[in-house]
Amino acid sequence: MTLRSVIRGSGSALPARAVSNAELATQIDTTDEWIVERTGIRNRYIAGEGETTATLATEAAQKALEAAGIAAADIDLIVLGTCSPDQTFPATATLVQHALGCRPGGIAFDVAAVCSGFLYGLATADALLRTGAAKRALVIGAETMSRLLDWEDRTTCVLFGDGAGAVVLEAVEVDAGDPRAPGILETRLHADGGQRDLLYMDGGPSTTGTVGKVRMKGREVFRHAVVNLASVLEEVLDAAGQTASDVDWVVPHQANARILDATARKLGLPPEKVVITVDRHANTSAASVPLAFDTAVRDGRIKPGDLVMFEAMGGGFTWGASLVRV
Ligand code: ACO
Repeated sequence: MTLRSVIRGSGSALPARAVSNAELATQIDTTDEWIVERTGIRNRYIAGEGETTATLATEAAQKALEAAGIAAADIDLIVLGTCSPDQTFPATATLVQHALGCRPGGIAFDVAAVCSGFLYGLATADALLRTGAAKRALVIGAETMSRLLDWEDRTTCVLFGDGAGAVVLEAVEVDAGDPRAPGILETRLHADGGQRDLLYMDGGPSTTGTVGKVRMKGREVFRHAVVNLASVLEEVLDAAGQTASDVDWVVPHQANARILDATARKLGLPPEKVVITVDRHANTSAASVPLAFDTAVRDGRIKPGDLVMFEAMGGGFTWGASLVRV
């Protein structure tokens, strides 16, 4: 027997207001055709008054707890990936802990890995669960990217949206010899701070005393994303002793439909195995993987027993992948 982190349920949340490409084109110099052709994005959700990263995260977490049939009082670890926290401190995870009504005294913290935040959070929670430091965890990715965008910069502002996704993990003893046993099988994380000038915020608490705005060299990010993602996917498959054909679903970070297509092609994965929600949600950074996962669970594509690959890459660069039997 071996201790594994098993996904018990998932949830997601979106702001009330949907913004189509056509609506954006009335405010900035762009077109629906350009955005769809270059990115696959048709729509995004933008947070309004009273909607913050913490409120979206709390709603997603509540739905995940409901799906798992687990009470907030039984959660002793919350790891939240975000680059758009409600405040510089305290960690948004602590706001969510309080809003959910979890028992005070559990562990709650944020991870800063931008679009890879959910993958970094999942790996951290998995490690803590397997050491026995906690028994049941919420791993959340939540963002209000709209508040970090330069709305005058058409090369970035059309790409992002707001939202949140969450999963409940539970530490469970499983039979390691059973290939159908559920849980997180293998995860690999990477970072390369030498590439920080390709995708970054041009401000921060300790430098400018401001939050700053998103800046990106899109072409170069695209090139690195395909190479890094294909490589970490192969690494995780090798570590788990699986091949691309064993995977039932790939749930990638939803940055750009062309990155998803190119990565799938490089690995020989059929496009129908790739969950794509970027058309509806745009790039929601750390929220995008759990938001896409929850969408595919709730619409019946991902079923119990499926082998699912999560993967993401973001500013830093940071990137990673995780193979999970759900
Ligand atoms: N509407 C209309 N025209 C535009 C827009 C826009 N919103 N944005 C840029 N353009 C114009 C440019 O000004 C340029 O015009 P020019 O040729 O007259 O100078 C032309 O379109 C081409 O611009 P490029 O930046 O070269 O366009 P490219 O084909 O590279 O597409 C894009 C840009 C979509 C950003 C692409 O590089 C990309 O997908 N990169 C990946 C980055 C990404 O997805 N990042 C998300 C965050 S990173 C992450 O999550 C991993």
